[in-house]
Order: sequence, then C-alpha cells, then structure tokens
Amino acid sequence: MKRIGFIGAGHIGSTLARLAINAGYEVLLSNRRGPDSLSQLVTELGPAASAVTPPEAAAPDLVVVTVPLHAIDQLPEEELAGKTVIDTNNYYPDRDGRIPELDSRESTTSELLQRRLPGSKVVKVFSNVVYLHLGQLPRPANDPQRSTLPMVGDDAEAKALVTEFADAVGFDVLDVGELHQGWRFENGRPAYCLPYAADPEAMRNSGPGSRPMEAKPAAREVIAALIERG
Ligand SMILES: NC(=O)c1ccc[n+]([C@@H]2O[C@H](COP(=O)([O-])OP(=O)(O)OC[C@H]3O[C@@H](n4cnc5c(N)ncnc54)[C@H](OP(=O)(O)O)[C@@H]3O)[C@@H](O)[C@H]2O)c1
Repeated sequence: MKRIGFIGAGHIGSTLARLAINAGYEVLLSNRRGPDSLSQLVTELGPAASAVTPPEAAAPDLVVVTVPLHAIDQLPEEELAGKTVIDTNNYYPDRDGRIPELDSRESTTSELLQRRLPGSKVVKVFSNVVYLHLGQLPRPANDPQRSTLPMVGDDAEAKALVTEFADAVGFDVLDVGELHQGWRFENGRPAYCLPYAADPEAMRNSGPGSRPMEAKPAAREVIAALIERG
C-alpha cells in the first residue's frame, strides 16, 4: 500500500487525508499537540490512518506540510530531507505576522519553505482551494466535471509524483512552473479559492465560521486563464 505523511491535520490535512484513504493510501497524521489529540480523527478515518509525531510522519517519500506559515520553522528538517513535500501553505499576515519579502513579492511562501527545507523537494498544490470545496470536488479521471489545481515546483520528478497523487485523489493539475511562480495562485490572486466556489460573491463576503459553501468544478482552461491574469 502507498503511504503518505501529514504534518498538520487540521482543515486541509484531515480533508486531504480522507481523500488519500479513499484513493487507497495509508496515511500517517501528525500535528503540534501530539498523537493522542488525533485519536478521534484516526478512529473516524479507519484502519488506514494512524497518529504519529511530525518526524515519524516524514518517513514516507511523499509528505504533506499543511500548517500555518508561521510554524514552518518547527518542521523536522532532517527527517524531511530527500522527500517530496506537498506545500499547501498560504500567507495571512494577521495569523503569520508580517513577512517583508512576501509583502514586496520578492519571494513566495513555497520558496520560504524550500529554503527552510533545503534537502526536500517542495511542490505547492492544494493551496488555492477551500477545504470544504476540496472535499466536494474530486472526480474520476476524464470526468468532464473534474477540477484542475495549479502546481509549482523546482523538481520535475517531484512534480510527477505529486501529479500522480493529485490524480489518484480526483484532481488534474496545471504545472505553472517553478516555486517562484507560486504567487500566481496565492491569497488575493484571481486563481485563489474563488474559482471553485458556486457563489464566489457569497464566499468573498463570508466571515470565519460561516456556513458550508457549495463547490463548483473549475476546468483547466478556466484556471489557466486566471493564472495568466496573475
Ligand atoms: N483552511 C483552508 O480552507 C485552506 C485552504 C488552502 C490552504 N490553506 C493553508 O493550509 C495551511 C493549513 O491550513 P488549515 O486550515 O488546515 O489549518 P488548521 O485547521 O489551523 O490546522 C493546522 C494544523 O497544523 C498543525 N500545526 C501547527 N503548528 C504545528 C507544528 N509546529 N508542527 C506540526 N503541526 C503543527 C496544527 O496542529 P494542532 O491542532 O495540534 O495545533 C493543525 O493540525 C495554512 O497555511 C493555510 O493557510 C488552508
């Protein structure tokens, strides 16, 4: 059975873990508070899920890092060396504090993560879709309602591995280039979250804790055009 690790088991981590299990993966979940705090989630997800520490979650070749950006300094760098790291992270200054090189657009969130994990192969994807939509949108390959997610990374083999994983869980990907291009689908850009909302206006105006929102598939051409607008 293929294995995938998760550092972060919150909204995105738990949603993606569920999709991975549906696709036949074994998932190793970790968070900040420790394995005991994940017992309910692991019970819900069933026998393909287990709760571990972050260094243990870094054991598989493919590891999802899905923590608040301010927490990337605490990642297990040594254990993640050589691994393909899926980066879902975004920059929210209210949560993460001001980061001048992101404010000035000199750098991107994924470049910061790559710098923090020099021995890993970082690929950014699953970062521009709200977790509720992520859970609703998976479709089989060739389904006309299948959605496309933008992806960036500096390593071709790592991008191939991540493309295979995204395909397995129900998404096409659009390769947008190297990590430096990640700004094209970061917070505030046209390709960020709204393309997957059935009612983008309602979503734009909704606050934290608002009711679940319905998803809308977004095809490759739609995402490509929004990425081009940048
Ligand atoms: N929510 C969305 O719809 C969405 C969509 C796209 C991208 N994103 C981005 O994806 C990332 C995760 O978002 P989220 O909404 O899933 O966050 P979340 O629900 O707040 O979950 C964050 C997870 O990270 C864990 N964590 C925090 N610090 C850690 C550390 N030092 N070591 C290990 N684990 C740590 C937390 O563990 P504890 O619970 O133990 O604190 C929790 O499991 C963020 O960068 C966010 O901007 C979110």
